[in-house]
Parts: sequence; C-alpha cells; structure tokens
Amino acid sequence: MRRACVVGHPVAHSRSPMIHGYWLQTLGLEGSYGREDVAPEAFKAFIESLADRGYVGCNVTVPNKEAAFAAARIDDPVARSLRAANTLWFDGNILRGMNTDVVGFLANLDAKSPGWDDRLDCVTVLGAGGAARAIVYALLERGAGEVRLVNRTLARAEEIANLFGGKVKPMAWAEREAALVGSFCLVNTTSLGMKGQPPLDLSLDSLPERALVTDIVYVPLETPILALAREQGRPTVDGLGMLLHQAVPGFERWFGQRPVVNSALRQLVEADILAKTG
Ligand code: ATR
Repeated sequence: MRRACVVGHPVAHSRSPMIHGYWLQTLGLEGSYGREDVAPEAFKAFIESLADRGYVGCNVTVPNKEAAFAAARIDDPVARSLRAANTLWFDGNILRGMNTDVVGFLANLDAKSPGWDDRLDCVTVLGAGGAARAIVYALLERGAGEVRLVNRTLARAEEIANLFGGKVKPMAWAEREAALVGSFCLVNTTSLGMKGQPPLDLSLDSLPERALVTDIVYVPLETPILALAREQGRPTVDGLGMLLHQAVPGFERWFGQRPVVNSALRQLVEADILAKTG
C-alpha cells in the first residue's frame, strides 16, 4: 500500500489528510495519507528516513518548507525561485521536490473568478511571509505590471522585492489604503482575519469597484475583509480552493492518478471548517 503524509509542526490542524483521504476513497485506490509532527531540528533526519518509514512522499508545511527545499533534488523552477518546497516524492531512489502553492493559488482564482487576470496592471498583496512569496510569484507569472507589497515589517517586503525585481514595490503598513488606489486585485496573505487573530483593519473605499478581493486565510471561510468586500458588491474568492488545488500534483505523483477538485470535496472540508468555527 502506498503511504504519504503531511509533515509540519504543529500539524494536528492540517486538513490535508481529509483531502487526500477523499480522493483515495472516491478513486477506489489503496493508499493512506497521515500526519507527522516533526519539529525543525528533527526534520532533516526525518526526511532521510522517509523511505524506511514506508512513505512514497509527503507534503511539507510550516515551518519546514525551506528545509524540504534543501533536502530534495529540485528541478521545479517555482520551488527554485521561492527556495521552498511543499511536495516531495521518490523517483526511484531520488527524492524530488516541488512547490505547488503557486499553481494552487492560480487554479483557485481561475476556477472561482474566470477572467480575474484580464487586467493586472497593478495589484496589492498584504503580508510578506512565505505565502506572500508564492503569491507574488504567481501574480508576476500572470503578467502583473506592478505588485504593491505592503507589510508591517517593511524590511521583509523589501527582501521579496529584491528577489523578484523592479515590478515589486515594497510599502509600509501605514500606506495600505493608499496602495489600493488603482489596484485590480487585493490579496491578503497576513494572518489577520484568521480565527483567533485580530481582523484586518482596512477600508476598501479606495479600491476600484470591480477589483477582486481574495484571502489565503480559510478559517473562517469568509474572513471579515471578504465579508466587507462582498457587502460592497465586489468579487471575492476565499482561500479554501488554494488548499485544495495545491494538493493535486502531490496526489498524482504518490498514487498515480490525477484527482480533481470538485464541489463534493469542497463541501466536505467546508463542513469541517464550519463545525470548528461555529
Ligand atoms: P506565512 O509564511 O505563512 O505567510 P508569516 O511568515 O508568519 O506566515 O507571515 C505572516 C504575515 O502576517 C507577515 O507578513 C506578518 O507581518 P510581519 O512580517 O510584520 O510579521 C503579518 N502579520 C501578522 N500579524 C500582523 C499584525 N498584527 N499586523 C500586521 N501584519 C501582521
């Protein structure tokens, strides 16, 4: 039986086992997908013993994505650019790695808001963590002319700008509303709005009327900023689809069939989120 898992720290909250479990079951495949809580200091040794533990590969989540990049052979240009990998698999004896956050983010918007990328002259991204890197990469790949990257710690936004070049414009947190003027898309990659965190304190009044608002937070499914955008009649996309779509390439490599993200899967994960957020 082919076995895979998600490796994180903490990992108890991960919904990846639910997603892969759904696909294994509905595709009628023998296999399993579990969780492994592995602290950063134990990660290298864990990955070196991955095959001995009976795994054909794994997902890697916070805080181990950079270590996963270092531990695997990486041909994927996305992972090479982000210096982070979230999907590892064995190709014979070789452990290979890729980063599926970029395709996950893009596939979610393509599915939920077709045409969202018709005009991307200027976009705004809030936050400058690991997720923001993937999203900036994705927006530039889709042809964004200017990415306004707003972060509380300006130096982190500057670091990402240095990585990607002149189209990324670092901006201070105090400028977050000014950044929205003329933006065709707003992406929240900060933890603000997540269950247990303060809401994102942001007026959308300076954002153009038809600009898409999306969040990578998906607990709750509708974050306060998405609710505000919806109330104002703007197009919105929640972050759950990114989680679902980023899982596809790993499943295909470990279990040999390419799964699809359908509404039944979404409803399953949505129900779990709702049960935990009330
Ligand atoms: P990830 O790698 O998952 O994106 P992260 O590195 O913890 O996570 O990034 C979280 C983001 O939320 C950061 O951009 C962080 O801003 P800092 O770089 O200044 O830490 C942002 N963030 C978290 N709490 C915030 C707050 N109260 N106000 C503004 N930004 C906040």
